[in-house]
Amino acid sequence: MTSMSFARAAAYYDATRALPEQVSDQVCTLLAAELAGRRRCLEIGVGTGRIALPLHDRGIAVLGLDLARPMLEQLVANAGGRAPFPVLVGDATRLPLATASCDAVVACHVLHLVPDWPSAIDEALRVLAPGGVLLVDFGGGIPAPWSGALSRIAAAHDVTDRRPGTSDPDELGGYLGRRAAQRALPEVSFPVTRTLATDLDNWEQQIFSWTWNYSPEQMKVVCDDIRRWALEVGRDLHEPATMQRSIRWLAYEPVAP
Ligand SMILES: C[S@@+](CC[C@H](N)C(=O)[O-])C[C@H]1O[C@@H](n2cnc3c(N)ncnc32)[C@H](O)[C@@H]1O
Repeated sequence: MTSMSFARAAAYYDATRALPEQVSDQVCTLLAAELAGRRRCLEIGVGTGRIALPLHDRGIAVLGLDLARPMLEQLVANAGGRAPFPVLVGDATRLPLATASCDAVVACHVLHLVPDWPSAIDEALRVLAPGGVLLVDFGGGIPAPWSGALSRIAAAHDVTDRRPGTSDPDELGGYLGRRAAQRALPEVSFPVTRTLATDLDNWEQQIFSWTWNYSPEQMKVVCDDIRRWALEVGRDLHEPATMQRSIRWLAYEPVAP
């Protein structure tokens, strides 16, 4: 299994993943406090710069790396046509960087896409200089009241939202063992409002990476079945539900052997 490149998502990624401005500011403040004064902060899976560009604007010395050249091209477009910091096409499991050459590694919504995530972690630790920090946001979806039913119906069609890498802090903690000390950064929470109709549109348009394992026809069959279920149980496709989304960053500080 290979890592999931976001080449196909470059054109729509920002429109579907952007955080509200105030939330983005809060996250950026949190990360900038960890990264300020560090000489070289690598973001693996930097994508379109959703996290890295505002950090750069706050004076953080960013270096971006991504598998998908189109995502990096979008980053450059987002920055006005010129890369504001160095960007590299590369694989987080084989970093083209010298040992102990970075003061921080940031991994935001990327480890779930990397089947060989232990190698990405080993590489992050290898490139970190003494005193460096690894910052991870595993990401993950926010369940809506209808999500259980959707998963059940999709599973009946052998469609699941399984990701190839890890989304589990305990799994990462277990892998790191005593090699690094874990610390949670303050959580950033905010309300998110969705409808079943928008969720189904996203599934059919294959906005999220887990859907890329399936054909458009498979996703349409699943969504049609879900619409039938909604009609049967009297669930209004357009009735909004508001959920609380929490962004949880974890800091890992390598411990000298
Ligand atoms: C969900 S996006 C996150 C982008 C950015 N970190 C953010 O939070 O907006 C994941 C990115 O990781 C990249 N990616 C996936 N596997 C990778 C790997 N093994 N090495 C480097 N980048 C990878 C994808 O191409 C994609 O741009």
